[in-house]
Amino acid sequence: MKFEIITNNDVTWQEVKALRLEAVKNYPASFAGSYEEDKSHSDAYWEDLLKRDRMKHVFARLENGELIGSVSFYYREMMNVRHLYRLCAMYVKPESQGKGVGKKLVLTALNQIKKDPIAHKVALSVELSNVSAVKLYESCGFKSVGIQKDELKVEGVFYDELMMELIL
Ligand SMILES: CC(C)(COP(=O)(O)OP(=O)(O)OC[C@H]1O[C@@H](n2cnc3c(N)ncnc32)[C@H](O)[C@@H]1OP(=O)(O)O)[C@@H](O)C(=O)NCCC(=O)NCCS
Repeated sequence: MKFEIITNNDVTWQEVKALRLEAVKNYPASFAGSYEEDKSHSDAYWEDLLKRDRMKHVFARLENGELIGSVSFYYREMMNVRHLYRLCAMYVKPESQGKGVGKKLVLTALNQIKKDPIAHKVALSVELSNVSAVKLYESCGFKSVGIQKDELKVEGVFYDELMMELIL
């Protein structure tokens, strides 16, 4: 399966919206935002998502043009935490999973983060039982540093999250 890694300039907000809505619908316990919440956002919200200074995105596209995955990252703004980045919104379409797309997305995001001379640490949270995601992050060098109890609540059910970090 051939795919290329691309950035904001090579995607439309309509493609990003469709991918995100599919992600939150298929895997509700993997994201902080719900399907209903994301579906209710205006077109301006999705357009703005690709233009934010502080948040960047990396996407994967198949040879046939189909967008199959993405990951986002942003830095913390205040002075004493400005060296911290967070990785979020990680998704690869089910039919493209297990083929190295997620790893390529994360490693590309990490390479982009490393270009910031202030960047020192990247953190993320992942639902505790999400083996595929934990394995992916471990294979990119992230270490588990603790568990947050009842961090997510999806349709009345609480989920714990694993906190993972990577010192650059
Ligand atoms: C988690 C997710 C992004 C992984 O993406 P992917 O493209 O399937 O992952 P990759 O094929 O790049 O695999 C990366 C590494 O993780 C390992 N891995 C992935 N899934 C695995 C599984 N189910 N069991 C064991 N190892 C697994 C791979 O073997 C590979 O390790 P390697 O580099 O040592 O060979 C994808 O499954 C997904 O989108 N899931 C639904 C949404 C989600 O859970 N997002 C994460 C929110 S925190």
